[in-house]
Amino acid sequence: MKFGYFDDTQREYVITRPDTPLPWINYLGCEEYFGLISNTAGGYSFYRDARLRRLTRYRYNNAPLDMGGRYLYLRDNTSGKYWSPSWMPTRLKLDEYECRHGQGYTIITSKLNGIKFSARYFVPLGESLEIWQVTLTNESASDADLSLFSAIEFCLWDANDDATNFQRNYSIGQVEIAPLALEGRGDGGEGLTVIYHKSEYRERRDHFAYFACSEKLAGFDTAREDFLGPYRGWDTPLAVEEGKSRNSEALGWQPIGSHHVKIQLKAGEQKQVIFLLGYQENPKDDKFDPPGSQVINKKTVKPIIAKYLKSENADKAFNTLRDYWTMLLGKIQVTTPDEHTNRMVNIWNAYQCMVTFNMSRSASYFESGIGRGMGFRDSTQDLLGFVHMIPERARERILDVSATQLKNGGAFHQYQPLTKRGNNDVGSGFNDDPLWLVLAVSAYLKETGDWSILDEQVQYQNEPGSESPLYEHLQCAIQYTLDRPGPHKLPLIGRADWNDCLNLNCFSDTPGQSFQTTTNKDGTVAESVFIAGLFVLACKEMAGIAEHCNDQAEVDKVQKSAAEMEKIVWAAGWDGEWFRRAYDDYGHALGSKENTEGRIFIEPQGICVMAGLGVDAAPSPDGQSGSGNAVKALDSVGEHLAFQHGIVVHQPAFTQYYLHLGEISSYPEGYKENASVFCHTNPWIMVAETVVGRGDKAFDYYTRINPSAREGISEVHKCEPYVYAQMIAGKDAVKPGEAKNSWLSGTAAWNYVAITQHILGIHPAFDGLEVKPVIPSGWNGFEVRRNFRGVRYEISVKREGPGNEVSLEVDGKSIKGTIIPLPKQGTESVKVKAIVR
Ligand code: BGC
Ligand code: NOJ
Repeated sequence: MKFGYFDDTQREYVITRPDTPLPWINYLGCEEYFGLISNTAGGYSFYRDARLRRLTRYRYNNAPLDMGGRYLYLRDNTSGKYWSPSWMPTRLKLDEYECRHGQGYTIITSKLNGIKFSARYFVPLGESLEIWQVTLTNESASDADLSLFSAIEFCLWDANDDATNFQRNYSIGQVEIAPLALEGRGDGGEGLTVIYHKSEYRERRDHFAYFACSEKLAGFDTAREDFLGPYRGWDTPLAVEEGKSRNSEALGWQPIGSHHVKIQLKAGEQKQVIFLLGYQENPKDDKFDPPGSQVINKKTVKPIIAKYLKSENADKAFNTLRDYWTMLLGKIQVTTPDEHTNRMVNIWNAYQCMVTFNMSRSASYFESGIGRGMGFRDSTQDLLGFVHMIPERARERILDVSATQLKNGGAFHQYQPLTKRGNNDVGSGFNDDPLWLVLAVSAYLKETGDWSILDEQVQYQNEPGSESPLYEHLQCAIQYTLDRPGPHKLPLIGRADWNDCLNLNCFSDTPGQSFQTTTNKDGTVAESVFIAGLFVLACKEMAGIAEHCNDQAEVDKVQKSAAEMEKIVWAAGWDGEWFRRAYDDYGHALGSKENTEGRIFIEPQGICVMAGLGVDAAPSPDGQSGSGNAVKALDSVGEHLAFQHGIVVHQPAFTQYYLHLGEISSYPEGYKENASVFCHTNPWIMVAETVVGRGDKAFDYYTRINPSAREGISEVHKCEPYVYAQMIAGKDAVKPGEAKNSWLSGTAAWNYVAITQHILGIHPAFDGLEVKPVIPSGWNGFEVRRNFRGVRYEISVKREGPGNEVSLEVDGKSIKGTIIPLPKQGTESVKVKAIVR
């Protein structure tokens, strides 16, 4: 069952009924000011940091789930009837409803009582504010006497404090209600009134929020209780019911912003009303105007407000935003025989990658914005999906992340976006973390050819004076694994590796302890086969980097280390039919036939095959290359882990809590890390399938979790059909196929990489663009437009035989191999014809 449809031409998902199985959300903003917005206008906004600079209040886990947001109410003043044109919060049945989520904007349209409503929400590039551009049209045959009320609830900045520290909060709220411009001065906005939120501005904050409206007000409210009335909620505000604002001025309690605009619309008439919600900072020594008073200095903000209250400026800003996204998405555009592939690659998957770049794992409808900072491994993997769109910002991200690396090569597991400093509460000791940095830097180098980044002086642990070139950080990252061999010489796992919930040194029997930061074992026994595979992969990337830097000693070192690690994996990490997962603190294998639960795990199969283990076709004389085992491992995945909704993390699921395994066994069977389809891992198998040349299988797995391909079962999948979710409930779950935790997941980047670089096979290499598709046998070809290092590649691929052999013709000349060498300086475009046989 569907709740909407894709409008690919507009690059929008169109939701056609408001009661989606879960709130289906979108993001506003792509620089510093951000908002989350649901299909019924729920959500909140913040400036840079969802915890520390929250502009509007949102209550998670509410009933109904999505309550609180950017609400507007319409009231027919003749009948007294009022409704929410975004359906929530009054939930009055609308005659028409539509929500269009696009890149960085959302448009909600509805109709009731002959009044057509449309609101376009977006954040202009370069500004710290959001615009709600409302158009009202009287489509009825008679004149309409209307009231339009706005309503937001201010958050007292620190979202955590805001939700907990009421003994203080209830006394600190402060607002100002002030004219936008002085009459007769002609500076724009005469007669308009702006609501300013300035809690804590009198003391250490130098920022405030504002909420403005383009129309003269019939009234306003800034005190929640006055607006709602006693014991009432957002669904029945008394001020709206009575058609009369209270002109309340909040002091303490709950400051809100509400404008009341009266609008007369003749039959057929239309009117636009603009609301602005924004964030502004003042210099510390120029906070008040006049100086010495307690009145906000509004000199810098007023021109901004006046500007965007004009619809022509708002329209212009919107068009600029659209063009910006056309430019970003235009870096890779594909035309394949599969519409789900096309729209995910061309629009939604790329868009989601940008959102994960901006949000990391901080703010979604499943991440409250007060919990996690930027993860080290999260950020480095996210980069794989956005580096081609915003290489300059990828560069900055790499430098920020690597500055939180520790001197021993390890890493702070998280850092705070506002301070860019490692988070001491979570600390380090997640032994896979540093290796992802090598993959991220390698991807950056391949995409940009900007080798200068390796010479950047980067601190360790954010300590001034500890700077060393980024290149050395990479060497340290690799050394970190080498310094930590376990009893089988496999890498020690530490607190956890990629699977955060496989906590082999935790042994926690105390409720409430964090599985990620509690360590009751000394960590000298439990080992990870996954890290071994990741290490081999990182070494291979490092070899390529070092070779380019003419550092033969490093090339030799990492190649030798990788080869040794491979041998160790064959000796201790291979179970006969698949790769083992780990060794626990007792030295017992996990992910092995020896186990009754958790006999086979997905992650080592993916990562080891991606690293090339067991891929060679011919058996090797020393018997240590594991030749052919890659296929065996992948067949085991197909047999034991794959089902219609994707590939689950492991089987059998853990049916009870195991002290020595940790959080993984805390979840009911089929959910989260306990045997759900943890979507992040699925693309590793897709990539691995392409490594062994099985395009049909790779694409089949791609399609099973492709949100667009699952659109038709939205009532089962529940999450948005336009973005990936972190997990889909597994075979053991009560509701298999039900997704959770949409938007912020490494799933976005990895699926993007799997489809674009491995299945379609357009893969940036150090010295050129590689074209090496491994596509389904039924495809007769596809086309790609790809911007690579400033050159436009127009690639057309034709299948002429059933295999994966590729021959390339570049600008009419055939070339050897699959890598298109970099063209001459100044070349604007390159035409590539690829034949697959
Ligand atoms: C979740 C993981 C997450 C971890 C760290 C766990 O409860 O299941 O997915 O990575 O917490 O926040
Ligand atoms: C989500 C975390 O953000 C990521 O770092 C982790 O690897 C996965 N969960 C799997 O546990």
